[in-house]
Amino acid sequence: MSNASFEERRAVRAVTEDSTQCMRFKRDHRYVSVDEVRELAKRTLPRMVFDFADGGAETEGTMRRNEAAFGDLSFVPRPMGGALSRDLSIRLFGSSLSLPVMIGPTGFAGLFWPHGEIAAARAAQAAGTAYVMSHASTVTIEDLSKATDGPKWFQNFIYKDRGLTRSFAERALKSGYDAMVVTIDNQVPGFRERDVKSDFVVPPRLSLKNAADVVTHPGWVFRMMRTPNVTFANYASAQEASVMALSAYMESNLNPDVGWDDLDEIRTYWPKPLIVKGVLHPLDAVEAISRGADGIIVSNHGGRQLDGAISTIEALPAIVDAVGGRVPVLLDGGVRRGADVVRALALGAKACLIGRPQLWGLAASGEHGVRQVLEIYRSEIDRVLALCGLTKIEQVDRSCLKP
Ligand SMILES: Cc1cc2nc3c(=O)[nH]c(=O)nc-3n(C[C@H](O)[C@H](O)[C@H](O)COP(=O)(O)O)c2cc1C
Repeated sequence: MSNASFEERRAVRAVTEDSTQCMRFKRDHRYVSVDEVRELAKRTLPRMVFDFADGGAETEGTMRRNEAAFGDLSFVPRPMGGALSRDLSIRLFGSSLSLPVMIGPTGFAGLFWPHGEIAAARAAQAAGTAYVMSHASTVTIEDLSKATDGPKWFQNFIYKDRGLTRSFAERALKSGYDAMVVTIDNQVPGFRERDVKSDFVVPPRLSLKNAADVVTHPGWVFRMMRTPNVTFANYASAQEASVMALSAYMESNLNPDVGWDDLDEIRTYWPKPLIVKGVLHPLDAVEAISRGADGIIVSNHGGRQLDGAISTIEALPAIVDAVGGRVPVLLDGGVRRGADVVRALALGAKACLIGRPQLWGLAASGEHGVRQVLEIYRSEIDRVLALCGLTKIEQVDRSCLKP
């Protein structure tokens, strides 16, 4: 931290102050479940901000199915094989993670807590797991890297301007990120009707329609007012251009013309682990590996892109079979319980990522809230293993579930 810029020191100090304040108020409060943290976030945030994270595309059918489909999988426990304690750790791309849950990339996390990306990355580090930084973060690639020593990955898009994709990758490489995630399911923006109805734009604008919504959440307003320049910090012109202009620029740079050759190109300049996110078809998993991918994330963007797409837990088994153990397969989408993580692991996932739950944790109490979210998953996974008579993650396989 000795070479930290003024901006960076200010960002880290703000996160620390805010988290300490919240810790003081909420020290004794232990959230019971991720659902409870979501309810708290709902109370803390203006409705339009809560809906920005909570909502999905169009009918939200895929989003709901992501969660519901986990419930179709029942455990068939064999209780007599347990031990006094259980080992939840895994190894992934050379890093040791203390639990098979990571924080997935979510743009504009700074809307939920000042410099939310730094707060969440520090929570991940404290919990012994990895953080994936979105390209659309409100802090820069460089500042986040300096603020945490934990495993961190950078998430990139294949833009129309391929030079932009490359420049982000080069910055992430220089800043010491351990892996890069390339998201392939964002060729055009998904249509989220809640955002249209609430007039939500980035950054949120005060209007007659939402004034009451905003002023009745003074805690959030106060935190945002204390945080100057909440913007898409990674874009070169972030300091000069308005957030709205940057938002429009990013949208115009999304690329329906993305193809496998693009992955070949990225492979020429990204030497570290390369993970493809947004895979739902087994043949795409096979193709990604043949183009040099080191990992797959089974994802439908949390049901925020193609409404009607298959849920991720339903897509997982065929992808795991097609991959045949050549690279790790990860999963996100609707993972709300430790039991969901164990179900995904039983079907062959190496680990799960959480999107919305970490934003709810941020909204509830910053770094402290995300830390608690991760601890909820840890204790739930531990309990499921104990009740299934298992002592470590490697023992979780398809035999744990009803065929
Ligand atoms: C507010 C929000 C912003 C997101 N931004 C990104 C992003 O910038 N890049 C990306 O690859 N995925 C993004 N996602 C998708 C998540 O990485 C992840 O796939 C999804 O949230 C997982 O589902 P879950 O929220 O049910 O856990 C975003 C999701 C949310 C809710």
